[in-house]
Order: sequence, then structure tokens, then C-alpha cells
Amino acid sequence: MDIKPYNEAEAKKAQVEQMFDNIAPSYDLLNRVLTLGIDTTWRKKAINTIQKTTPEHLLDIATGTADIALEAYRLIKPTQITGIDISHEMLAKGREKVSKKGLDTTITLLKEDSENLSFSDNTFDVATASFGVRNFENLDKGLMEIQRVLQPGGQVVILEFTKPTSFPFKQLFNVYFKNILPVIGKFKSKDSRAYEYLYESVQAFPDYDLFLTRMRSAGFRDCSYKKLSLGICAIYQGYK
Ligand SMILES: C[S@@+](CC[C@H](N)C(=O)[O-])C[C@H]1O[C@@H](n2cnc3c(N)ncnc32)[C@H](O)[C@@H]1O
Repeated sequence: MDIKPYNEAEAKKAQVEQMFDNIAPSYDLLNRVLTLGIDTTWRKKAINTIQKTTPEHLLDIATGTADIALEAYRLIKPTQITGIDISHEMLAKGREKVSKKGLDTTITLLKEDSENLSFSDNTFDVATASFGVRNFENLDKGLMEIQRVLQPGGQVVILEFTKPTSFPFKQLFNVYFKNILPVIGKFKSKDSRAYEYLYESVQAFPDYDLFLTRMRSAGFRDCSYKKLSLGICAIYQGYK
């Protein structure tokens, strides 16, 4: 079933854009609070999965408030970073952070749809996507677009929520994720659905081997994943 933020009638993409526009002001703070700051270590680990020491041009898909773009700059200094997202408000927050660090010439943030990128084939040597692909309207199209714009041999690194599988962590985490997190999210973000959608979309999303199958179908090779934090999320990676 296709999980959408607000209603069944409208297209998922428009609803996702609206939802992230709504929660943009509280997004970073809620990430830190709801994960006790662990989300920053997940992003760091994802960036450390990048094989190239100094990429020429890194594409950050669904860049949001630019956390991956900024951290990638700090850790591996790509010559150029392009971040794309469909949410104007998330990008605005990201641009503020990029400007504050004086990185406007290195990090460019653009309003683009991952499922229909404007870039030519073979443009980037690395692509990243953290907590973005689950929100695509058409996952296969989004993955194929990332593959298209990567150079042959280019690497994709995808960080995404997964479903923990081991007892009793799975049960304990589910109580938090399903019942507690949405209440805090609703209170702080003022969007009553966003953090319920988060739980529901993770339950419905193909994880682990199912996701690797989708990556391979999109044309990636040598695909693998690594579980993080007892399976709360995973880093997937592969090559064009
Ligand atoms: C959970 S946020 C992740 C943001 C950031 N990557 C991070 O790690 O915090 C998901 C982002 O995906 C974006 N998004 C969803 N569908 C998209 C699409 N089709 N094209 C581009 N961005 C998309 C949303 O607007 C949102 O900013």
C-alpha cells in the first residue's frame, strides 16, 4: 500500500512537499531530540561509506536542511556539492546553514524532483540520499534517475530507516516509534500527521534485501547494506 501523509486522494509527491514545508522550522531540532542526537552519527557513518577520498561532484538527493551536504564538506571536502529537494522551506533552512558556514560557492541547493532530475547523464561521481527515498512517489523511477546522473563507476550511498528485527529491541522500539515519537512530533512540529506518517511509511517500505533488489533493478551493481543501531536504520550502497 502507498502510504501518504494526509489523504488518499492527492498525489503523494504534493503531500510530501507540503508536509516538509510545514515541519521545516522544527525539523532539525526534532531530529536531534527524537533520536537523542544519534542521527548525526548515522549521517557521519553514511558519508564514511563513500570510497572516493575527495569526490569531484557530490549530489545529495532529498537534501532537506543540508545536513549531509555540510557534513560531507567537513569530512571529505568534495570539490562541488549539489543538494536537491522538492521542499522550498527545507531548502531555505539549508541555505541559511550553508551561508552561515560561508560555503555558498561550494554547496548549491536546488529545488528539483529526484524522480525527474534536470542533470545530464554521467554528471556526478558520488550520490547520497539520507531519509529521502522512502518519501519518493515512485521509488524505482527515483533510483533510476540517481543511476542515470551518476558517472560509470560512481557510488550511491543511501541512509534509510529500517525495521528492527530482534526481540526484545524490536518490541521496545516499536512502542516508542509508534506511540511516543508521534506525540512529541505533533506537539513540537504542529503537524498532526508528519510523525505518524514517519512510522507508517517505514513499516511499508522495502528494507534490507528487498531494497537491494530495487537498487539492482535500477542498474546498480555490488550492492550491500549495513545495519545501524540494532536495525533502526541501514546504509545501503552500490555502484553504477
Ligand atoms: C526526512 S527528510 C531528509 C532530509 C535530509 N536528507 C536529512 O538527512 O535530514 C526527506 C526529504 O526528502 C525530500 N523529498 C521527498 N521526495 C522528494 C523528491 N521526489 N525529490 C526531492 N526531494 C524529495 C523532502 O522534501 C524532505 O526534505
